[in-house]
Amino acid sequence: MPREKILIVEDEGGYREYLTSHLEERGFSVSAAPDGMSALDIFTEEEFDLVLLDLRLPGQDGLDVLKQFKDYSPETQIVMMTAYGLVQSAVEAIKNGAFDYIAKEALNPETLNLTVRKALEQRRLKRENEQLRAEIGRKYTFENIIGKSKAMRDVFQKIQRIAPFKSTILITGESGTGKEMISKAIYLNSPLHNRTFVAVNCGAIPEMLLESELFGHMKGSFTGAIRTKKGLFEEADGGTIFLDEISELPLNLQVKLLRVLQDHKIRRVGDTTEISIDVRVIAATSRDLYRDVREGRFREDLFYRLNIIPITLPPLRERTDDIPLLINHFLRKHMPEREGITVAPEAMQQLIQYRWPGNVRELENIIERAVVLSDSNTITPQALPSELQHIGEDFHIQVPEECLSIKRTLKTLVPAVEQELIRRALKQTSNNRTRAAILLEISHRSLLYKLKEMKECQR
Ligand SMILES: Nc1ncnc2c1ncn2[C@@H]1O[C@H](COP(=O)(O)OP(=O)(O)OP(=O)(O)O)[C@@H](O)[C@H]1O
Ligand SMILES: [Mg+2]
Repeated sequence: MPREKILIVEDEGGYREYLTSHLEERGFSVSAAPDGMSALDIFTEEEFDLVLLDLRLPGQDGLDVLKQFKDYSPETQIVMMTAYGLVQSAVEAIKNGAFDYIAKEALNPETLNLTVRKALEQRRLKRENEQLRAEIGRKYTFENIIGKSKAMRDVFQKIQRIAPFKSTILITGESGTGKEMISKAIYLNSPLHNRTFVAVNCGAIPEMLLESELFGHMKGSFTGAIRTKKGLFEEADGGTIFLDEISELPLNLQVKLLRVLQDHKIRRVGDTTEISIDVRVIAATSRDLYRDVREGRFREDLFYRLNIIPITLPPLRERTDDIPLLINHFLRKHMPEREGITVAPEAMQQLIQYRWPGNVRELENIIERAVVLSDSNTITPQALPSELQHIGEDFHIQVPEECLSIKRTLKTLVPAVEQELIRRALKQTSNNRTRAAILLEISHRSLLYKLKEMKECQR
């Protein structure tokens, strides 16, 4: 470990020399200055771990010097030294960011050693935390978000552009497209990256509990409210809240969320007063919120408040360029020990052609499973699930010649073909309607509608 660096700022020569030699003997690298001006010169030249700063300096108040040091390098620890028992000023110094103070009259080698050790220990802890945070940051910043397709490059560019601001963001995209991952990347690239990040899945909390979870409650406000509890918005105060599955927010809570976004105020359940709150909101949904607005399930005013900066994550089938890259990434992520494992060309072909209703998450799961199932260093089509294997084989229809008589007009022929396609799509997806709809390139809702019609025709 490099020697820790200490700067002593002290006008009394004897005292300065005593401190210097005492600390040098203990292995520190020590510099010293007799006044604020020369101290600042030294301070801006190199990085110090600790400064011992006299509160009374010739021509300058130690408190001012402290503020300048803190502005320049907030991480450096500063311990004030005060001669005349100026406790009040010492307290003021601590309020301004000093770590501690030593009363000169009471100074002996033990107190000095102890204070220096404590200050440096805290500095090391802070450093470790910073490193840890940077590591977590790297995990979620763009390095690990894979994508070279135009669509994803546009998303990255947008995130970078909006990162310095605290505006509300609405992320939309089908399930598994990476909405949560992107929300964390935005947070970690924003000015609030060292504040809290609270994630809530609005669809996973029972409606009855959601209000109290989000906004907190007062003791006795409902049966079971045995103590007053802070809500997630209060927990996130000063930081970022990620509201996942925002479409699942009941209408009465939509009003309350609107109030947070407009007036920055919340009210705990059972409370009469409001609490001011300052949070950055990132919301996400896999539903078409526009449609929910049109159909009266989602408030229009809230929609516009949330949709200040919209980010749309394209489904994986619309960015097939990214599939080989993602596969490589997941192979390395899940099986770093099986270096050199590759995907056979036929298997790759299937992976690229598949419709990916579960998007990147589904791809990740399939790759993880395929690696486990493959004995050799090559992933073959056999290691892929059955729904990937029939792609392209089974999905064209032969219309018998006799059907194509002009008498069987479009009116009768088209529905027959449609129904046959629906049956095949359902068979191919083992009756999974969501996947079948994607395969047919129609909405889930129209598939249900068509199935209902088919049932009615059969009656
Ligand atoms: N571009 C990407 N690069 C690497 N991994 C990704 C990417 N997109 C998604 N993933 C991975 O896919 C999985 C699903 O991502 P995430 O949970 O962010 O999706 P989501 O859109 O929030 O899904 P849901 O709507 O189901 O909640 C995660 O394991 C994530 O790490
Ligand atoms: Mg999610």
